[in-house]
Amino acid sequence: MAVDFNRKDLIQAALDNISHAYAPYSHFHVSAAVLMSDGKIYTGVNVENASYPAGICAERNAIFHAIAQDKTSKLVAVAIVGGPDGIIQDYCAPCGVCRQVMREFGNPEEITVIMGKSTEDFKEMTLAELLPMSFGPDFLK
Ligand code: THU
Repeated sequence: MAVDFNRKDLIQAALDNISHAYAPYSHFHVSAAVLMSDGKIYTGVNVENASYPAGICAERNAIFHAIAQDKTSKLVAVAIVGGPDGIIQDYCAPCGVCRQVMREFGNPEEITVIMGKSTEDFKEMTLAELLPMSFGPDFLK
């Protein structure tokens, strides 16, 4: 069963950190906050690189930050905010690679992905909705 949690707190954690995004090439600033099964929240921003493919998305930065602290914890929810120069005009959807990384760390039916414009205005979907018929760790047992 999906865990209950405070959506606004998670979105606020992402909003609080967006000024840390390093996006000198795309100028598209993204911030993510993840809630893990131990109740801890970790944040991440996109960090770009002059060698473009070496950059990383906010969501993966946040998830890897969490897993580096406790690889046994599971992903409960991800809140994502983003926009040009950090000005949030729309709901920022996670890229396909980030969806696949989310898939690694929990049950896709139970992971909540929140795309926020503000703490009051957001959309949410399960990872299973965003990444149907996915490949995950269970295939490699
Ligand atoms: N970006 C993210 O951080 N997360 C996403 O899911 C979408 C894209 C970043 C990557 C790059 O730094 C910038 O947004 C433009 O693609």
